[in-house]
Order: sequence, then structure tokens, then C-alpha cells
Amino acid sequence: MGNRLAGKVAIVTGAARGMGEAEARLFVAEGARVVLCDLLDEAGEKVAAELGDDAMYLHHDVSDEDSWTLVVEATTERFGVPTVLVNNAGIARYQTIDQMPKEMLAHLAANVVGPWLGIKAVFGPMRHADVGSIINVGSTNSFRGAPGASAYATSKHALAGLRRFPRRTACCDRRLPVEGRSPRMDNRDDKFECMRGQEWS
Ligand SMILES: NC(=O)c1ccc[n+]([C@@H]2O[C@H](COP(=O)([O-])OP(=O)(O)OC[C@H]3O[C@@H](n4cnc5c(N)ncnc54)[C@H](O)[C@@H]3O)[C@@H](O)[C@H]2O)c1
Repeated sequence: MGNRLAGKVAIVTGAARGMGEAEARLFVAEGARVVLCDLLDEAGEKVAAELGDDAMYLHHDVSDEDSWTLVVEATTERFGVPTVLVNNAGIARYQTIDQMPKEMLAHLAANVVGPWLGIKAVFGPMRHADVGSIINVGSTNSFRGAPGASAYATSKHALAGLRRFPRRTACCDRRLPVEGRSPRMDNRDDKFECMRGQEWS
């Protein structure tokens, strides 16, 4: 396809399916070497196998700090120092607040703690290499609400705040570019059924 990402070593979380899979495929097509991470091992292994030698799959729970250490080590050993991190993994459950007894912590773990730990894990290697880009996948719910999205929108608002930390108050002498991307929802029926007929806030 092209070589806009030639020489880049990217970690993409949540890459077994959906947007993360598409990002991984595009990155490899543009010349990057990519480590795909997810909890869905069968699907992740399949995507990585299709992408060939420029891709590798790792089982990785983004909310597990030790797992991040292993991912960065394995990436460095196979492809070199990671120069791109795409914090894509996330969960989105749309229900009224009383129907989500444990969902808040799950959303914070996947959508906020995960990216925070990811930035922490790659920050040292990127600083040392003096190169790096971090992309946090946000949402329109990073800056507005939606019916049933109390947990999801709260977590994506927090993620939007995280974008500012390495730029302005990084605990070191370097600034890393951290981008937030806010794709629009695709209106897949399974995710958004509970929102039909309701007003956006
Ligand atoms: N699809 C959309 O319309 C849309 C719109 C706006 C934002 N987003 C955001 O884009 C990202 C991807 O969305 P998607 O629609 O492709 O979702 P998806 O559910 O299809 O894929 C998300 C992937 O993340 C993985 N994942 C979840 N929790 C994880 C964890 N703790 N550790 C590792 N992997 C984990 C899942 O297994 C899954 O493979 C999410 O951050 C989502 O909030 C999506």
C-alpha cells in the first residue's frame, strides 16, 4: 500500500477485531511492524498470522501492569523499541445505571487505567529512543454524553484528560506527542439498541 510508517514499531491494543484490527492491518500495509494485543487469543492469532512476519500477537490485559512490562519486552526483542502506541482496547456497555452494578470499574479499568499503564510502560523506552507517538482512541462520548452511557462516557472523558498529561506535566524532560482520536459510533444494533428513541445530551 505505502511506506508512511516504514521503520515504526507499533503496539495496538484490542487488535483482535474491530477498529484495532483495522488499525493493525493499515499499519502493516504502510510499512510498520505491529504487535497486536487482546484478550481474544484465537481471533488475534488469526489476524497476526494473516499479516505475516511484520506482525505478532500477544495475549494482554491492558489493565494489568505486569502484562504491559512483558508486552514492551517482547516487542523490543522481536521488532525493537516501540515507537507507536495505539491505546485502542476498550469496552462500551449501554444500560441504565441501575442495570450496571459492576460496569463502572470495568470501564475505568479497560478505558482509562489501561491506557494510563500503557503510556507508563512505553514512556521510558520512547524517551530513551527520543521518538514516539501515542494515540488514545476516544469517542464522541469523550466530550458529550449519550443515553445509557454513564460508565462509558465518564471513562472516555477521563481518557481525554489523560491526553494532556504527557504533553504538559510529564515527569521528565521530554514531551511525547499524545493524540486523542474520537471516532463516531457505527450504530451497530447490538451496542446501541437501548439508545433508540432517546435524546442525546
Ligand atoms: N466502533 C465504534 O463505533 C467506536 C466509536 C467511538 C469510539 N470507539 C472506540 O474504539 C475502540 C475500539 O472499538 P471497537 O468498536 O473496535 O470495539 P470492539 O469491541 O470491536 O473491540 C475492542 C477490543 O478490545 C478488546 N479489549 C477489551 N478490553 C480489553 C482489555 N482489558 N485488555 C485487552 N483488550 C481488551 C476486546 O477484546 C476487543 O477485541 C474502543 O476504545 C472504543 O471505545 C469505537
